[in-house]
Amino acid sequence: MAVDLSVSIAGLRLRNPVIAASGTFGYGSEYAALLDVSALGGICTKGLTAEPRTGNRGERLYETPAGLLNSIGLENPGVRAFIENELPRMKKLGPPVIANLSGGSVGEYEEGARLLDACGIDMIELNISCPNVKAGGMAFGLDREKAAEVTRAVRKAAAHKPLLVKLSPNAPDLAAVARACVSSGADALSLVNTFKALAIDTSQRKPVFDNISAGLSGPAIRPIALGMVWELYGELRNKAPLVGMGGIACANDALEFLMAGATAVQVGSATFANPAAMTEIIAGIEAYMRKNAFTRTAEISIR
Ligand SMILES: Cc1cc2nc3c(=O)[nH]c(=O)nc-3n(C[C@H](O)[C@H](O)[C@H](O)COP(=O)(O)O)c2cc1C
Repeated sequence: MAVDLSVSIAGLRLRNPVIAASGTFGYGSEYAALLDVSALGGICTKGLTAEPRTGNRGERLYETPAGLLNSIGLENPGVRAFIENELPRMKKLGPPVIANLSGGSVGEYEEGARLLDACGIDMIELNISCPNVKAGGMAFGLDREKAAEVTRAVRKAAAHKPLLVKLSPNAPDLAAVARACVSSGADALSLVNTFKALAIDTSQRKPVFDNISAGLSGPAIRPIALGMVWELYGELRNKAPLVGMGGIACANDALEFLMAGATAVQVGSATFANPAAMTEIIAGIEAYMRKNAFTRTAEISIR
């Protein structure tokens, strides 16, 4: 029986619904020796900003019993250097390239979006949810008016690219932010970015991270992220496809998100522990579909 794993998001066809999450897969080629990168549904770049950033000082990663805290602070070479040095290599890998765009102000987002609109990337993921920078980032994703303003600006500056907006689980009213993004031009939504969290070094009697707080990802957040996908699917129905993520580490985790209403999933922290996690997840989804005589991925949904 033929099983079609492909999905379409805002007109972009992915050969399967499993995408490498931003910030956890470099620019893809770093992993080429560890797994068949060409088998992935898509690859999100590390968060890019119009100008280069050096990221945060001090500790950047810290393990917790069921997750990972990070405070990278958007270290990246800037959009221009990405386009010149990384994009040609990334395009050769095969999967669609999704550029994760961040910024400290609406103007900086706009500039990055204009540059990305004119290059060969396949989709923009507008990151309004990074908890690890002092200016911008998550601040745009907490408030529906700010989220609408930056979505409108990026939509206009990058009129030729499909636009995915990445939401913050820290928003007090996630549904309101989601609706605002969709009515301001988002073609699709991805959720969730990391949860704002804290670790304290008791021997030094100070927070582990220079920035005090950091972002929590991994298995600890999965049921909460899944609940948010379920909620937003109910809220938006077919107005915008959802890309779900948060703690997905095996095919069963991914199936939960697809059942809750996500069209596709992203996998982040799991790749650090098991670089083959995504290819195993793709194989596991296919096996589930065969077992249940499903021919298309959309049939997995229970919504
Ligand atoms: C080390 C690290 C760096 C990250 N950098 C970014 C980033 O630059 N942009 C972004 O939108 N999300 C970033 N994220 C968030 C992930 O893309 C993802 O939303 C989150 O980790 C939840 O998925 P997971 O539990 O599968 O890791 C980062 C996560 C980690 C662990």
